[in-house]
Amino acid sequence: DIKACIFDLDGVLVDTAVYHYKAWKRLANELGFDFTEHQNEQLKGVSRMASLDLILGWGDVTNLSPEQKNELADRKNTWYTEMIGQMTPAEILPGAKQFVIACREAGLKTAIGSASKNTPTILQKLELNPLFDAVVDGNSVSAPKPDPEVFLKGAEDLGVSPAQCVVFEDAVAGIQAAINGGMKTVGIGSPDVLTKADKVISGLDKMTLEMLASL
Ligand code: G6P
Ligand code: MG
Repeated sequence: DIKACIFDLDGVLVDTAVYHYKAWKRLANELGFDFTEHQNEQLKGVSRMASLDLILGWGDVTNLSPEQKNELADRKNTWYTEMIGQMTPAEILPGAKQFVIACREAGLKTAIGSASKNTPTILQKLELNPLFDAVVDGNSVSAPKPDPEVFLKGAEDLGVSPAQCVVFEDAVAGIQAAINGGMKTVGIGSPDVLTKADKVISGLDKMTLEMLASL
């Protein structure tokens, strides 16, 4: 039986991908190159430093020291935090808050499982903190998705077994992380991309408690 729902944040509860994209694009442009929205897809669910490495690869920027890379990541994060600082609860994705509330009313536990170190800020801006029994994010895990650490820690914090959890994810790496952790998965996005998910929907506005039972 399903006892808990674990939600990725970016792309599942809120569309921060557009802010990540704008900030990374600005950094790339300052370094003298550009990348497409299609390439940006590959950054979803990927940690900040791993994202930077991918982007630098696209621009053929090589031989940077760890210090230089940290400076670039910090520069991007400064622009990103300026943008998310302006966010309001109006930016919660359609149906997301309603579905989390429905889960809780049905007696299910709820948690956040995100790679983002900015999770606390985003949850505060969206006023979503009261809806989650546990929050596991980029500040509390060391292994990035597709390693299952973030979701396993979520299950542990909730006091449920992995097999009792459903993970909601928009990233290929995130679906794989949940599968690696022995959890059920619902992909948010396109079935052509999230091929390994147990079920794929376009958004949480399409999700129901009945669908949970059939996973
Ligand atoms: C999420 C996003 C990624 C982002 C990562 C780290 O997984 O989908 O695009 O790179 O979080 O975010 P952060 O806020 O720590 O830079
Ligand atoms: Mg995501």
